[in-house]
Amino acid sequence: MPQTYHAGRHFLQIPGPTNVPDRVLRAIERPTMDHRGPAFGRLGLDLLKKLRAIFKTQGPVVIYPASGTGAWEAALANTLSPGDAVLMCRTGWFATLWREMAERLGLDPTIIDTDWRRGADVEAIGEALAKDTAHRIKAVCVVHNETSTGCASRIDEVRAAIDAAGHPALLMVDTISSLASMDYRHDEWGVDVTVAGSQKGLMLPPGLSFNAVSAKALAAAERARLPRSYWDWRPMLAANETGYFPYTPGTNLLYGLNEAVAMLMEEGLENVFARHDRHAEATRRAVRAWGLEIQCAEPRHYSSSLTAVRVPDGHSADALRAVILEKFNMSLGNGLGILKDRVFRIGHLGDFGDLQLIGTLGGVEMGLRAAAIPHQPRGTQAAIDYLAGNA
Ligand SMILES: Cc1ncc(COP(=O)(O)O)c(C=O)c1O
Repeated sequence: MPQTYHAGRHFLQIPGPTNVPDRVLRAIERPTMDHRGPAFGRLGLDLLKKLRAIFKTQGPVVIYPASGTGAWEAALANTLSPGDAVLMCRTGWFATLWREMAERLGLDPTIIDTDWRRGADVEAIGEALAKDTAHRIKAVCVVHNETSTGCASRIDEVRAAIDAAGHPALLMVDTISSLASMDYRHDEWGVDVTVAGSQKGLMLPPGLSFNAVSAKALAAAERARLPRSYWDWRPMLAANETGYFPYTPGTNLLYGLNEAVAMLMEEGLENVFARHDRHAEATRRAVRAWGLEIQCAEPRHYSSSLTAVRVPDGHSADALRAVILEKFNMSLGNGLGILKDRVFRIGHLGDFGDLQLIGTLGGVEMGLRAAAIPHQPRGTQAAIDYLAGNA
């Protein structure tokens, strides 16, 4: 069926990939350069250094020409051996996929479940580690911001639980939908491998992913026996010493990354986080005013990069999203796994300002009406009132 013609710009309000700013698009469109020439070496050295500030680390950050899933595999394959026990917190769909990957790689995951309405259960992590007196568990894996639920885990508290148990396990954290949107501190929180992707807070198209690596993780990589080749940190870090890569890098995406990092630094990371916090709060006020339920049931775990909204029983979130796409040219995130058709997800991350948020919420409100989802009017007004009072 031919799609209705829409004037005006499409609203890409899924929780990533996010809207790519014009400055980044302009940077990417420059001619591809020789990735073994001197200009590339200078770009690489500069970028690899600047990137550390985004992860808040003094250590190395590895860049892969791959989606986030690749960086998940790199984290596990570089540090672990066949049969290693790993403690994984199943906070939602993405944590579930990471666990399935761990199984496929021949690891032995122990699962700590949640009801997908909150972040990782820190107490349960502490208990599992305290019981593991033989130190069989080699890594604790947590998704910082569960993109499927809009629930964020408290990485500082996970670190404290590991320390309280006196356990030597590595801490691996997926920040694919939180890095450069929500406060994150690789070094201060004692994270050993941070996994990240280009297509969300970093405001780039999909295609790059990252591992920030601690000294402890580098030491583990020397002992680890899972097969690794493409993902191996060692040739990557050796080439990175002079700004180069062991294979062809995503040259044009790196131009874009350079520009995106410059933009984040111009705004100031703390301001970037405050902007996301403020937009998330405005969104939650709109949802409450509509009389709808936020998927995250624990306010301490609210995500600042997206809000998942439950539709009333008997109604279809997918039908609502289809109406909003067709009538208002806006894409919203779908429900994943057990939340299929039960929630829609509003992405409010990346290159995003007050008026885009009001447009987004206006589109949701008109869609609720068009799809006959029971709700109260004036949710968008509640967001306007909040934003205007907190400019
Ligand atoms: C939290 C999280 N982890 C992992 C992934 C998988 O990343 P990718 O789809 O880039 O491979 C995603 C994708 O949205 C994600 O949101």
